Amino acid sequence: MDIREYNRVAWDSSVERGNQWTIPVGPEAVAAARRGIWEIVLTPQKPVPSGWFPNLAGRDILCLASGGGQQGPILAAAGACVTVFDNSPMQLAQDRLVAEREGLEITTVEGDMRDLSCFADESFDLIFHPCSNCFVPDVRPVWREAFRVLRHGGALLSGFTNPFLYLFDQDLADRGIFEVRHQLPYSDFTSIGAEERERYIAGNEPLVFGHMLEDQIGGQTEAGLLIAGFYEDCWADRPLSNYAPAFIATRAVKP
Ligand SMILES: C[S@@+](CC[C@H](N)C(=O)[O-])C[C@H]1O[C@@H](n2cnc3c(N)ncnc32)[C@H](O)[C@@H]1O
Repeated sequence: MDIREYNRVAWDSSVERGNQWTIPVGPEAVAAARRGIWEIVLTPQKPVPSGWFPNLAGRDILCLASGGGQQGPILAAAGACVTVFDNSPMQLAQDRLVAEREGLEITTVEGDMRDLSCFADESFDLIFHPCSNCFVPDVRPVWREAFRVLRHGGALLSGFTNPFLYLFDQDLADRGIFEVRHQLPYSDFTSIGAEERERYIAGNEPLVFGHMLEDQIGGQTEAGLLIAGFYEDCWADRPLSNYAPAFIATRAVKP
Protein backbone atom coordinates (compact mmCIF):
# COMPACT_ATOMS: atom_id res chain seq x y z
CA MET A 1 0.00 0.00 0.00
CA ASP A 2 1.17 3.56 -0.76
CA ILE A 3 0.80 5.16 2.67
CA ARG A 4 0.88 8.71 1.36
CA GLU A 5 -1.91 7.99 -1.13
CA TYR A 6 -3.96 6.09 1.46
CA ASN A 7 -3.68 8.84 4.10
CA ARG A 8 -4.53 11.53 1.53
CA VAL A 9 -7.89 9.88 0.89
CA ALA A 10 -8.37 9.17 4.60
CA TRP A 11 -7.77 12.84 5.54
CA ASP A 12 -10.01 14.07 2.72
CA SER A 13 -12.64 11.81 4.20
CA SER A 14 -11.91 13.19 7.70
CA VAL A 15 -12.80 16.64 6.35
CA GLU A 16 -16.14 15.30 5.14
CA ARG A 17 -16.74 13.69 8.54
CA GLY A 18 -15.95 16.96 10.37
CA ASN A 19 -12.96 15.66 12.35
CA GLN A 20 -11.88 18.19 15.00
CA TRP A 21 -8.56 18.88 13.19
CA THR A 22 -10.29 19.82 9.94
CA ILE A 23 -12.64 22.54 11.18
CA PRO A 24 -11.51 26.02 10.11
CA VAL A 25 -11.34 28.99 12.47
CA GLY A 26 -14.24 31.43 12.49
CA PRO A 27 -14.26 35.16 11.61
CA GLU A 28 -13.97 36.21 15.29
CA ALA A 29 -10.65 34.40 15.74
CA VAL A 30 -9.27 35.99 12.57
CA ALA A 31 -10.48 39.47 13.61
CA ALA A 32 -8.85 39.05 17.05
CA ALA A 33 -5.59 37.87 15.44
CA ARG A 34 -5.59 41.01 13.30
CA ARG A 35 -5.68 42.97 16.58
CA GLY A 36 -2.76 40.89 17.91
CA ILE A 37 -4.83 38.59 20.13
CA TRP A 38 -4.35 34.96 19.16
CA GLU A 39 -3.14 31.55 20.26
CA ILE A 40 -2.63 28.28 18.36
CA VAL A 41 -1.82 24.67 19.29
CA LEU A 42 0.80 22.12 18.27
CA THR A 43 -0.77 19.48 20.54
CA PRO A 44 -4.39 18.84 21.59
CA GLN A 45 -4.91 21.56 24.19
CA LYS A 46 -2.07 23.77 25.45
CA PRO A 47 -1.49 26.97 23.50
CA VAL A 48 2.05 27.39 22.22
CA PRO A 49 3.87 29.88 24.51
CA SER A 50 3.89 33.32 22.88
CA GLY A 51 7.65 33.52 23.53
CA TRP A 52 8.16 30.70 21.01
CA PHE A 53 7.20 33.04 18.15
CA PRO A 54 9.26 35.86 16.65
CA ASN A 55 7.61 39.16 15.76
CA LEU A 56 5.43 37.83 12.92
CA ALA A 57 5.23 40.92 10.72
CA GLY A 58 6.48 39.98 7.26
CA ARG A 59 8.03 36.67 8.42
CA ASP A 60 7.92 33.68 6.07
CA ILE A 61 6.17 30.82 7.87
CA LEU A 62 5.70 27.25 6.66
CA CYS A 63 2.75 25.44 8.25
CA LEU A 64 3.99 21.90 7.69
CA ALA A 65 1.37 19.14 7.46
CA SER A 66 -0.90 21.70 9.06
CA GLY A 67 -3.89 22.07 6.74
CA GLY A 68 -7.44 22.44 7.97
CA GLY A 69 -7.83 26.22 8.07
CA GLN A 70 -6.65 26.45 11.67
CA GLN A 71 -3.12 27.71 12.31
CA GLY A 72 -2.32 29.12 8.85
CA PRO A 73 -5.10 31.76 8.77
CA ILE A 74 -4.36 32.91 12.33
CA LEU A 75 -0.66 33.40 11.57
CA ALA A 76 -1.53 35.21 8.33
CA ALA A 77 -4.00 37.50 10.13
CA ALA A 78 -1.26 38.22 12.71
CA GLY A 79 0.93 39.55 9.88
CA ALA A 80 3.04 36.62 8.63
CA CYS A 81 3.54 35.49 5.02
CA VAL A 82 2.10 31.98 5.29
CA THR A 83 2.54 28.84 3.18
CA VAL A 84 0.42 25.86 4.21
CA PHE A 85 1.83 22.52 3.04
CA ASP A 86 -0.27 19.36 3.38
CA ASN A 87 -0.96 16.01 1.72
CA SER A 88 -4.75 16.39 1.68
CA PRO A 89 -6.37 18.58 -1.00
CA MET A 90 -9.47 18.98 1.16
CA GLN A 91 -7.45 20.10 4.18
CA LEU A 92 -5.75 22.71 1.99
CA ALA A 93 -9.16 23.77 0.65
CA GLN A 94 -10.13 24.64 4.25
CA ASP A 95 -7.22 27.12 4.39
CA ARG A 96 -8.22 28.64 1.05
CA LEU A 97 -11.83 28.88 2.23
CA VAL A 98 -10.78 30.98 5.25
CA ALA A 99 -8.31 33.03 3.17
CA GLU A 100 -11.02 33.93 0.62
CA ARG A 101 -13.64 34.60 3.30
CA GLU A 102 -11.30 36.88 5.28
CA GLY A 103 -9.24 38.47 2.50
CA LEU A 104 -5.99 36.84 3.69
CA GLU A 105 -2.99 35.96 1.51
CA ILE A 106 -2.14 32.27 2.04
CA THR A 107 -0.20 30.02 -0.33
CA THR A 108 -1.25 26.35 -0.26
CA VAL A 109 1.00 23.54 -1.51
CA GLU A 110 0.11 19.86 -1.75
CA GLY A 111 2.91 17.42 -0.96
CA ASP A 112 4.59 14.94 1.34
CA MET A 113 6.17 16.33 4.52
CA ARG A 114 9.26 14.16 3.87
CA ASP A 115 10.00 15.93 0.58
CA LEU A 116 10.11 19.74 0.59
CA SER A 117 12.08 19.92 -2.66
CA CYS A 118 9.57 22.46 -4.02
CA PHE A 119 11.15 24.96 -1.58
CA ALA A 120 14.65 26.42 -1.92
CA ASP A 121 17.17 26.19 0.94
CA GLU A 122 16.61 28.78 3.69
CA SER A 123 13.14 29.88 2.53
CA PHE A 124 11.42 30.23 5.94
CA ASP A 125 11.90 32.04 9.26
CA LEU A 126 9.59 29.66 11.14
CA ILE A 127 8.12 26.20 10.58
CA PHE A 128 4.96 25.27 12.45
CA HIS A 129 4.52 21.48 12.47
CA PRO A 130 1.60 20.25 14.61
CA CYS A 131 1.05 16.56 15.51
CA SER A 132 1.12 14.92 12.09
CA ASN A 133 4.34 12.95 11.70
CA CYS A 134 2.49 9.90 13.08
CA PHE A 135 1.11 9.61 9.52
CA VAL A 136 4.48 8.84 7.92
CA PRO A 137 6.61 5.75 8.55
CA ASP A 138 9.92 7.67 8.79
CA VAL A 139 10.38 11.03 10.52
CA ARG A 140 14.08 11.70 10.00
CA PRO A 141 13.58 13.01 6.42
CA VAL A 142 11.04 15.49 7.83
CA TRP A 143 13.63 16.94 10.24
CA ARG A 144 16.34 17.04 7.55
CA GLU A 145 14.07 18.86 5.11
CA ALA A 146 12.82 21.27 7.78
CA PHE A 147 16.45 22.11 8.67
CA ARG A 148 17.27 22.73 5.00
CA VAL A 149 14.40 25.12 4.28
CA LEU A 150 14.80 27.08 7.55
CA ARG A 151 16.90 30.23 7.65
CA HIS A 152 19.75 30.47 10.16
CA GLY A 153 18.33 31.67 13.47
CA GLY A 154 14.89 30.35 12.47
CA ALA A 155 12.88 27.88 14.55
CA LEU A 156 10.94 24.67 14.00
CA LEU A 157 7.95 24.30 16.37
CA SER A 158 6.74 20.69 16.44
CA GLY A 159 4.10 18.60 18.17
CA PHE A 160 4.28 14.80 18.26
CA THR A 161 3.09 11.82 20.26
CA ASN A 162 5.02 10.26 23.09
CA PRO A 163 5.45 6.66 21.89
CA PHE A 164 4.19 5.17 25.18
CA LEU A 165 0.71 5.96 23.84
CA TYR A 166 1.08 3.06 21.42
CA LEU A 167 1.98 0.43 24.03
CA PHE A 168 -1.66 -0.22 24.87
CA ASP A 169 -4.54 -2.03 23.22
CA GLN A 170 -6.40 1.00 21.81
CA ASP A 171 -9.98 -0.30 22.14
CA LEU A 172 -9.40 -1.14 25.82
CA ALA A 173 -7.52 2.11 26.47
CA ASP A 174 -10.51 4.10 25.19
CA ARG A 175 -12.50 2.37 27.98
CA GLY A 176 -9.88 3.15 30.63
CA ILE A 177 -8.28 -0.32 30.67
CA PHE A 178 -4.53 -0.25 30.01
CA GLU A 179 -3.22 -3.54 28.76
CA VAL A 180 0.32 -3.49 27.35
CA ARG A 181 0.02 -5.12 23.95
CA HIS A 182 2.45 -3.63 21.42
CA GLN A 183 6.22 -3.44 21.10
CA LEU A 184 7.60 -0.04 20.12
CA PRO A 185 8.06 1.46 17.62
CA TYR A 186 4.41 0.98 16.65
CA SER A 187 3.05 0.63 13.11
CA ASP A 188 -0.52 0.06 11.92
CA PHE A 189 1.11 -2.11 9.23
CA THR A 190 3.04 -4.52 11.44
CA SER A 191 1.87 -4.19 15.06
CA ILE A 192 -1.73 -5.28 14.50
CA GLY A 193 -3.37 -8.07 12.49
CA ALA A 194 -4.96 -7.78 9.07
CA GLU A 195 -8.47 -7.96 10.50
CA GLU A 196 -7.95 -4.98 12.81
CA ARG A 197 -6.21 -3.00 10.06
CA GLU A 198 -9.11 -3.73 7.67
CA ARG A 199 -11.48 -2.29 10.26
CA TYR A 200 -9.55 1.03 10.20
CA ILE A 201 -9.41 0.96 6.41
CA ALA A 202 -13.15 0.26 6.11
CA GLY A 203 -13.75 3.33 8.32
CA ASN A 204 -11.40 5.49 6.19
CA GLU A 205 -9.25 6.07 9.30
CA PRO A 206 -5.75 7.45 8.67
CA LEU A 207 -3.09 4.79 9.42
CA VAL A 208 -0.46 5.73 12.01
CA PHE A 209 3.06 5.05 13.26
CA GLY A 210 4.39 5.52 16.80
CA HIS A 211 7.95 6.84 16.50
CA MET A 212 10.61 6.53 19.18
CA LEU A 213 11.88 9.65 20.99
CA GLU A 214 15.30 8.87 19.53
CA ASP A 215 13.78 9.57 16.10
CA GLN A 216 11.65 12.50 17.25
CA ILE A 217 14.12 14.41 19.42
CA GLY A 218 17.36 12.69 18.40
CA GLY A 219 16.30 13.09 14.76
CA GLN A 220 15.97 16.85 15.19
CA THR A 221 19.38 17.24 16.85
CA GLU A 222 20.98 14.94 14.27
CA ALA A 223 19.57 17.18 11.52
CA GLY A 224 21.49 20.08 13.14
CA LEU A 225 18.73 21.69 15.19
CA LEU A 226 19.16 22.75 18.83
CA ILE A 227 16.27 22.04 21.21
CA ALA A 228 15.39 25.33 22.89
CA GLY A 229 11.92 24.65 24.32
CA PHE A 230 9.81 21.69 25.49
CA TYR A 231 6.40 20.98 27.05
CA GLU A 232 3.93 18.11 27.39
CA ASP A 233 0.18 18.00 26.84
CA CYS A 234 -2.74 15.56 26.89
CA TRP A 235 -6.15 15.00 25.34
CA ALA A 236 -9.09 16.74 27.01
CA ASP A 237 -11.28 13.68 27.20
CA ARG A 238 -9.42 10.36 27.00
CA PRO A 239 -8.89 8.05 30.02
CA LEU A 240 -5.10 7.98 29.43
CA SER A 241 -4.98 11.71 30.27
CA ASN A 242 -5.70 10.78 33.92
CA TYR A 243 -2.30 9.09 34.06
CA ALA A 244 0.25 10.83 31.83
CA PRO A 245 0.55 13.42 29.05
CA ALA A 246 0.87 11.64 25.69
CA PHE A 247 1.98 14.62 23.59
CA ILE A 248 5.22 16.58 23.36
CA ALA A 249 6.00 19.96 21.82
CA THR A 250 9.51 21.16 21.02
CA ARG A 251 11.02 24.41 19.83
CA ALA A 252 14.20 23.73 17.84
CA VAL A 253 16.49 26.43 16.49
CA LYS A 254 18.72 26.33 13.40
CA PRO A 255 21.98 27.93 14.59
C1 LIG B 1 -3.92 16.18 12.82
S1 LIG B 1 -3.88 16.96 11.23
C2 LIG B 1 -2.91 18.39 11.61
C3 LIG B 1 -3.49 19.64 11.12
C4 LIG B 1 -4.23 20.48 12.07
N1 LIG B 1 -4.41 21.82 11.53
C5 LIG B 1 -3.71 20.53 13.50
O1 LIG B 1 -3.93 21.52 14.16
O2 LIG B 1 -3.14 19.59 14.05
C6 LIG B 1 -2.68 16.00 10.37
C7 LIG B 1 -2.40 16.56 8.99
O3 LIG B 1 -1.29 15.84 8.44
C8 LIG B 1 -1.53 15.75 7.06
N2 LIG B 1 -0.67 14.69 6.50
C9 LIG B 1 -0.77 13.35 6.65
N3 LIG B 1 0.21 12.73 5.97
C10 LIG B 1 0.94 13.70 5.38
C11 LIG B 1 2.12 13.69 4.56
N4 LIG B 1 2.72 12.56 4.21
N5 LIG B 1 2.63 14.87 4.16
C12 LIG B 1 2.02 16.05 4.48
N6 LIG B 1 0.90 16.12 5.26
C13 LIG B 1 0.38 14.96 5.72
C14 LIG B 1 -3.00 15.43 6.96
O4 LIG B 1 -3.52 15.64 5.66
C15 LIG B 1 -3.56 16.36 8.04
O5 LIG B 1 -3.96 17.60 7.50
